Amino acid sequence: MPKKLTIYTFNDTVLQEKASKVTDLNDTELNSLIEDMIYTVSEKNGVGLAAPQVGSSIRLIVVASKPNKRYPNAPEIAPEAMINPEIIASSTEQEFDWEGCLSVPNTRGKVPRAKKLKLRYTTPSGQTITKTFEGFIARIIQHEIDHLDGISFVERMEDKDDLVTEKEYLTLSATEN
Ligand code: NI
Repeated sequence: MPKKLTIYTFNDTVLQEKASKVTDLNDTELNSLIEDMIYTVSEKNGVGLAAPQVGSSIRLIVVASKPNKRYPNAPEIAPEAMINPEIIASSTEQEFDWEGCLSVPNTRGKVPRAKKLKLRYTTPSGQTITKTFEGFIARIIQHEIDHLDGISFVERMEDKDDLVTEKEYLTLSATEN
């Protein structure tokens, strides 16, 4: 049975470090970590999670977007673990949109991100894939890879006035729609 992991917050040093590359894909601990992360992100109503957020300083992210309480308009995709993800190209065109983070509780901010990117990553079964992502999924990937480099979405914001509480955000998004 997968277990719900403890989420570290931005004050914890593990979220301020550069995570190291995963070298052993056959590590059973890696495989149970992936299962636990996919379980945890869903239990916490997140759409993505990076290993440092659960205290493990390695280059592993999960993208698990689906509509939930915190992200009612999120697109639904099958949860995917990406090992040693690397952005090899990104569009100059950017989009501003709201982001939240399980490590920055009850906070939302408007963050500029590349609209489209090309990602190279390894799957848990050891395949190296190059794939293009755009929109909200590309946003999640950029946010999670930032965690691997010790960067939180708040540092990516251009205007700190766009930092609001989750409650304010829900009111704002109700009027925007
Ligand atoms: Ni985050």
